[in-house]
Amino acid sequence: MLIDEIKRLKKEKNAVILAHFYQNAEIQDVADFVGDSLALSRQAASTDADIIVFCGVYFMAETAKILSPEKKVLLPKKNSLCRMAAMISYDDLKEYKEDNPDRMIVTYVNTRADIKSLSDVIVTSSNAEKIVKNFPDKKIMYVPDKNLGLYLKSKLGFDIDVWPGFCYIHELLTINDVKKLRNKYPGALVLIHPEAPLQVLNEADFVGSTKQILDFATKSDAQEFIIGTDEGIIHALKKHNPDKKFHLLSSGLSCINMKRIYVQDVYDALAKEQHEITVPKDIALKARVALDRMMRLS
Ligand code: 13P
Ligand code: SF4
Repeated sequence: MLIDEIKRLKKEKNAVILAHFYQNAEIQDVADFVGDSLALSRQAASTDADIIVFCGVYFMAETAKILSPEKKVLLPKKNSLCRMAAMISYDDLKEYKEDNPDRMIVTYVNTRADIKSLSDVIVTSSNAEKIVKNFPDKKIMYVPDKNLGLYLKSKLGFDIDVWPGFCYIHELLTINDVKKLRNKYPGALVLIHPEAPLQVLNEADFVGSTKQILDFATKSDAQEFIIGTDEGIIHALKKHNPDKKFHLLSSGLSCINMKRIYVQDVYDALAKEQHEITVPKDIALKARVALDRMMRLS
């Protein structure tokens, strides 16, 4: 069976399979570790495996490679690209920095390595608030997610400018979605990812990363939840909380690029050691400085 073959290959090649919560259920079940962007970066940085099979999108595998340059990092489907990461270019950010030398560049992990290389510090959705809190007197440009940037600005009251990027699935959430679902499931708590627009986040009972949503639901005494993030998280929520009920805030919450990988792709990547991620050394070294700063401040 394919799963047994994957297990055998993992042992033979000293490989580890990492998966994001947005992956297909079969991938989450075959992975050695399932997590959010921050936890996956930590795993990649600390693993003693020789090969990391990264089931996520390109920027995640690329981040793993920068944090573990001596490891072979494989992305089972090379065309798994985060659409938000494509909303900012190296040249545009370089020009912005030249025009605004007084602004600190705080960069969401959902970016390519070249963008990270121009940044002062990297953040994820689970540590952004904690990290930005360290810089109350700085003028900040937050790239590229305007929603998470505006959320930080409204929570902290700091001088934060935002890049006009967004996640196409979270961007579609509306106040009306929250109203409709609250009417349908009275008593259910509303948990939303901070990539959603600020006016929708203001309607939530809890705002957090995928892992923070999972932890909140698991610890909560409530029995029913409305979830405002990619449907992939529902698999993990049900696994950890078989007696609780979960409803998606909108039917459009599925990132196609996160759903490209299947068990056969993991097997092929491992067996042929294909789709290896590489990052030019000069870019990787500069991006690493900003990522290390994130790790220290997390
Ligand atoms: P987290 O993994 O930080 O929850 O972010 C979700 C996401 O959009 C990944 O692309
Ligand atoms: Fe990118 Fe949005 Fe997909 Fe996350 S869910 S990988 S932010 S497009």
